[in-house]
Amino acid sequence: MTKSADTYLVCDPWQIIEENWNRERNLVSESVFSLGNEHMGVRGYAEEGINAETLQGSYFNGIYEEADLNRSYKGIITKTHFMVNSVDWLYAEIHADDELLDIASCDIENFRRVLDMKDGTLKRSFDWRTKSGPVVHLEFIRFLSMDSPGTAYQKINFSVSGGDVSLTVVIANNFNTSHGWNKKNYWDMTRREWFTSGAAIQGKTIRTGQQVFSGFTFRTNINVQCGKKVAEKFAGFEIILALKNGESAWIEKCVYNHISKERDSAGDPVWIKGCEIMKDDPVDFDTALEKQRKYWDTFWKNADIKIEGDPLNQQGIRFCIFQMQQTYNGYDPTNNIGAKGLTGEAYNGHAFWDTETYCLPFYLFSNPQAARNLLSFRYATLDTARDRARQLDCEGACYPIATLNGEEACSLWQHASLQFQPSTAVAYGIRHYVNLCQDTEFLYEQGAEMLVEISRFLASRGSWNNDGTGFGFYAVMGPDEFHMMVNHNCYTNFMAKKTFEYTEQVLQTMEKEQPKKFAVFCKKLKLSQNERMNFVLCADKMIILFDEKTKIFEQHEGYYTLPRMEISKIPVTDFPLYHNWSYDRIYRTSMIKQPDVLMFLFLYNQEFSRDIKKANYDYYEPNTIHESSLSPSIHSIFASELGKHSEAFRFFGFATRMDLDNYNRNTVEGLHTTSIAAAWMNIVYGFAGLRSDGNYLSLNPVLPEKWTGYEFGILYRNAHIRISVTAKDIVLSSNDEISEPIPLKIFSELHSFTSAGLTISLSKKQD
Ligand code: BGC
Repeated sequence: MTKSADTYLVCDPWQIIEENWNRERNLVSESVFSLGNEHMGVRGYAEEGINAETLQGSYFNGIYEEADLNRSYKGIITKTHFMVNSVDWLYAEIHADDELLDIASCDIENFRRVLDMKDGTLKRSFDWRTKSGPVVHLEFIRFLSMDSPGTAYQKINFSVSGGDVSLTVVIANNFNTSHGWNKKNYWDMTRREWFTSGAAIQGKTIRTGQQVFSGFTFRTNINVQCGKKVAEKFAGFEIILALKNGESAWIEKCVYNHISKERDSAGDPVWIKGCEIMKDDPVDFDTALEKQRKYWDTFWKNADIKIEGDPLNQQGIRFCIFQMQQTYNGYDPTNNIGAKGLTGEAYNGHAFWDTETYCLPFYLFSNPQAARNLLSFRYATLDTARDRARQLDCEGACYPIATLNGEEACSLWQHASLQFQPSTAVAYGIRHYVNLCQDTEFLYEQGAEMLVEISRFLASRGSWNNDGTGFGFYAVMGPDEFHMMVNHNCYTNFMAKKTFEYTEQVLQTMEKEQPKKFAVFCKKLKLSQNERMNFVLCADKMIILFDEKTKIFEQHEGYYTLPRMEISKIPVTDFPLYHNWSYDRIYRTSMIKQPDVLMFLFLYNQEFSRDIKKANYDYYEPNTIHESSLSPSIHSIFASELGKHSEAFRFFGFATRMDLDNYNRNTVEGLHTTSIAAAWMNIVYGFAGLRSDGNYLSLNPVLPEKWTGYEFGILYRNAHIRISVTAKDIVLSSNDEISEPIPLKIFSELHSFTSAGLTISLSKKQD
C-alpha cells in the first residue's frame, strides 16, 4: 500500500494537540477537532471567523436538503438528498479597537488547538499582538453536552497585557452558513426574538422544510455595555469589554438547539418547545462541564483501550473510540451513522452498509441499546425499502446503498441498483445482535419482519440458472466495487444464502415459541408455507463458486479469466484511482478495491477452516489495492489469524491514525468514521482474535511485537469484562456481580467466566 503519514499533531495519550496554525492544514484540522454528540456535530473551526478555507455551522443528524436529478429510467433515482450545515452557534466576531481578529492575517503567537478526550472539550488559545500595541490572550472553549444533546456551551476568556484595550465582541447564532461543496445557503429564517441576556432564532430548510430552533443565553463576569445585534438570518449581541492592562474577562454562552426532522413541519411547535427547553435547562458553563467530565469518565472506564509501548497508536485508538461515541451513542433511534459522521460533507452525511458491518460490533460490545436502535432505524425505514424494491421490479424490501432518511440517495446507478450488501448486512446485523444480546422481543417485533422482506427481495432479485439446477444473482456488484454487472458474486450469493437460512430458522423458532403471534405475523405479511419453502430451496441450491482443490472461492463467474493487473506496477501518483483513471477503466481487470470474498469469510469466520482462509487471503490480497479505508483492517484481522504478524501490524498501521495523520490525504472532507470503527475491530477482532459469529464468544489473542501489553473492555451478557494481554498471559476480570457463569472460548478451550476472573497463559496459544 502506498500511503504515508502527514504527522503534525503532538503525541499525547488523552489529547489531540496542534501547535502553530497552518493555512494549508486548516480544513484537515477542522475535521480532526470535530465535536459531536450524535444529535449534532460541529467541526473544529475558528469561532471568530477566518480568512482561509473553512466550513462553519453545525450538522444535525437527519437534517438535509434535496436535489432533482432529472432522469427518467425506471429504478434510477430521480432525486437525491444531502446533509446541510445549519446554524453557526459559535459565531464570535472580535475587534480590538478598530482591528478585526483573524488568525490568518493578524499577528498571532503561541497558537494551540487542543481536543481533550477526557472531557470532550475543544480549546483554542493564542496571543494576539494588536496593531495598537497591547497583547490580548484569548482562549475559546466549547463542548456539546453528551447528557442533553440539544445543549452546547462556549466560553471565551480574554486577558490583556501591554496596555489598555477596548474589545468589541459580537456573539450570535447565525444561519448564514454556506454548504462547502455547493457554496449555497439552504436556510430560510422563520422567527427570531431577543431576551434580556439571550436570543433565539429559527431556520427552515428551503426545500425539505425541516426546522432548527437555536437559542442562547450568555453571561459575563464583569459589567459590560451590551446591545442587540441584528442582521439577516442572525440573532446576536454586541458586547464592549473595556479592559485595562493586566485585566481579564470572560463571556460564556449556553446554546439550546431543538429540531424537527419532519418535512414541511410546522414552525410554532418547534419554537415553543425550543423556548421551553431554554427556560428549563439553565445550567452554567462550569456545572455543565463537571457533568460532561463525569459522562466521559464513566464511558472511558469500560470503553478504553490501553496500549503499552506504542504512544502513537494509544493516542490514535482513543481518538477513534472518542469519535465513535460522539458520532452515535443510541440517543435517538431515528439517527444513523454517516460514513463521515457529522464531521464533513463527503458522502453527503449518508449511512451505508458500513453501519451494520463495521460499526455495529463496537456498540454490541459497549452499548447494546445503541446497537438495537441502529437496527430499529432500518425497521422504521422498512416501508421505504419496500418502495425501493418495487422500483427495481422486485418484491420485499431493498435497503439503500446510501441514505439519510431511508430513501436511496446514491446517484451512481450501478451502486444503487446492483449492490445488495446493505440488505444482507441488515439481516446479518439482526442475527449478530440477537445472538449476542438475546433480545427475542426485538427479533419478533421488528427483526423477523425485516428478515422476511429482505428474503423476499433476494428471492425475487435472484434467478435460477437456465437448466434450473442452481440459484444465484445475475448482474450485480459485490463489495469490491471494481466489477459490475457480474454473475454469482460470491459475497452476494453467500450472504443471501445465509439470510434465507436465518430467516427460516427464526420463523421456525417463532412458530414454536409464540404460535399465536406467529399466525398474526404470517397473516399480516401474507407469508405462506410455499414461500418459506422457496426461501429454503434458494438457499439449498445457491451457486457458490468454490474449488475443493484450491480451496478458493471465485469472486464471481469469470473472475479467473480477467486480465491480470500487477498492482505493484501502478505508479503511486495514480492513486486514488477514482480521481486519476476513467471510471470504466477500473472495471476491466482483476484488480479489487476492497475485500469481497474475504469479507464473507470474516463475517462468518467460524464456519471456515484455516486452510480456506489462508488460500483465499493469499490469493486475493495481492490483487487488492485497498482504495477504500475499510479494507486494511479486515486484511489485518486475517493476517493476524493466519500468523502473519508483521503483515497484520503493517495493515494496522493506517487504522488508528487514518485521520490524525491524514493517510488518504482527504481528511479535509471529514473523518473516516467507518474506518474509525474498523480500527476498533482491528484490535479487538484482529490482535485479540475475538470472534462473535458462532455459538460461543471466542478469543485468540496475540501480542504485537512492538507492544508490551494491551487492554480493552467488552460488555457481554450484562457483565463489563476487562481483557488484558501481555507477553505472559491473558487476564479477564470484572467488577460486576455475575450471577450465571459466562461461557467463553479462549484458544479454542471452553471456560466459564465468573466474578473471580480468569488468567490463561499465553503459551497455550497455537498458531
Ligand atoms: C466503499 C463502500 C462504503 C463507502 C462508504 C466506499 O468507498 O467502497 O464499501 O460503503 O465507501 O464508506
